[in-house]
This record gives sequence, C-alpha cells and structure tokens, in this order.
Amino acid sequence: MSDMSTTIAPLARSDIAQAASVLAAAFADDPVICHLWADHPQTEPRLATFFRTTLTNHHLAGGGVDVVRSDDNAIAAVAIWNPPGQWQTSTLALVREAPELLWALRDRIPTALKVRGEFDRVHPIDPHWYLCNIGTSPSHRSRGFATQLLEHRLSSCDKRNESAYLVCTRERTIPLYEKVGFRVTAPLPLSDGPLLWSMWREGRAG
Ligand SMILES: CC(C)(COP(=O)(O)OP(=O)(O)OC[C@H]1O[C@@H](n2cnc3c(N)ncnc32)[C@H](O)[C@@H]1OP(=O)(O)O)[C@@H](O)C(=O)NCCC(=O)NCCS
Repeated sequence: MSDMSTTIAPLARSDIAQAASVLAAAFADDPVICHLWADHPQTEPRLATFFRTTLTNHHLAGGGVDVVRSDDNAIAAVAIWNPPGQWQTSTLALVREAPELLWALRDRIPTALKVRGEFDRVHPIDPHWYLCNIGTSPSHRSRGFATQLLEHRLSSCDKRNESAYLVCTRERTIPLYEKVGFRVTAPLPLSDGPLLWSMWREGRAG
C-alpha cells in the first residue's frame, strides 16, 4: 500500500548521517552483507560508517541519491543511483574513503575486494543508471516507499531514453524490480557466497 503523505528529494549533505543509518538498518541482514561480515556483532555501526563515507565521497556528487520521508519527516527509504559512466569510484574518492573503509571492513577486506571484483566483472558496458543500493528502514516496510523511489528515478530515465541496471540480492525482491520494468539478465553466483541476479531495464522513449 502506498503512503500518500510522502515527498521524494535529493539527499542533502546535512542528511548523510541519517540516510546512512537508514541504509545500515536496512542492509544489516542482507545476504551479501552477511557473507562479508558473517554475523559480526558490530555489523550495523560498520555499515553506517561504510554508507556515510561512500555517500560523502562518491555518490552525493553524482546527484543520484534520492530519499523519501514519512509523514513525521524522518527519512524512511534511500536509493543510491550512479549516473551513466560514473558507477566506478574515482581514485580521489577512494583515497578520501580509505580510512573509514579500512575501519569498517578490517579483516574482511580480502572478501570485500573479491566480491567487488565479481560485481565489476559482469557490470554492463552500455550506458545506464546504476542502482547501487535501495533500502527502507525496517519500521517503514511494505508502504510503497521503495516503489516510489524507483518510479521517481525511472520516470526521469524515460524522459531521456536511459537504461538502468542493478544487482538483486534476494529472490524475494525480484518482483519489486520487475514491477517497474527490470528483467533478470543473468544469475550472479558469488563464489562461496549467495546467489544474486543481474537485472536490466532498457531505456524507453518518453
Ligand atoms: C527491498 C526493500 C527496499 C523494499 O522496500 P519497501 O519500501 O518495503 O518496498 P515497497 O513497499 O515498495 O514494496 C514491497 C515489496 O518489496 C519486496 N520485499 C523484498 N524484501 C522485503 C522485505 N524484507 N520486507 C518487505 N518487502 C520486501 C516485496 O516484493 C514486497 O512486495 P509484497 O509487499 O507484495 O511482498 C526493503 O525490504 C529493504 O530495505 N530490504 C533490505 C535491503 C534490500 O534488500 N535492498 C534491496 C537489495 S537488492
């Protein structure tokens, strides 16, 4: 069911910490995160640090981070999109992120690099908007927030006939993306990890 009293807006720098907390709570039990951190008791604070530094140093500049607020004005859900040609982290951003990434990942760095490599190997060459992450805080689920965020960005893609890509981390979530026009293009089994799915949405003219 859709909550009508909501607004979607680009993420403001002053709201990065709040958005990072929403994403950390949303992704704490994600299959890829569990593969990386394997039930570590500090998964959520580490994830919040990870999202805070990557939002600050990479994603925010692309203008593709959208947030939706609930009727109490708190951020309920966040979508991180990277514009065409900007899905890879620049060397400068990586240098800026490094201290917090090292703190967050610590002994999991080799696994994180391996996962990164497996994602990158199958990343499409054709221009596209890349949905890196979308998360709704657990207390705001099933109210249509993620659907609204997806429709918002995809309608702007359609105005410019732009395609979109994502990696889906749970079979249960595939229908959410199919409803807005994505199709599974290939399974992506992580080595010694969960099965994921690459999904593509072809650009449409206006
Ligand atoms: C997937 C997610 C973003 C959906 O957010 P949402 O605001 O509840 O989504 P909507 O209300 O627009 O749509 C609900 C649909 O999301 C899908 N969904 C996937 N995981 C879900 C979950 N844990 N809880 C509720 N819905 C979920 C279902 O298809 C659901 O449809 P249904 O209600 O008919 O079962 C949210 O569940 C979440 O943050 N999950 C953890 C992070 C994640 O898995 N992100 C996507 C990585 S590919």
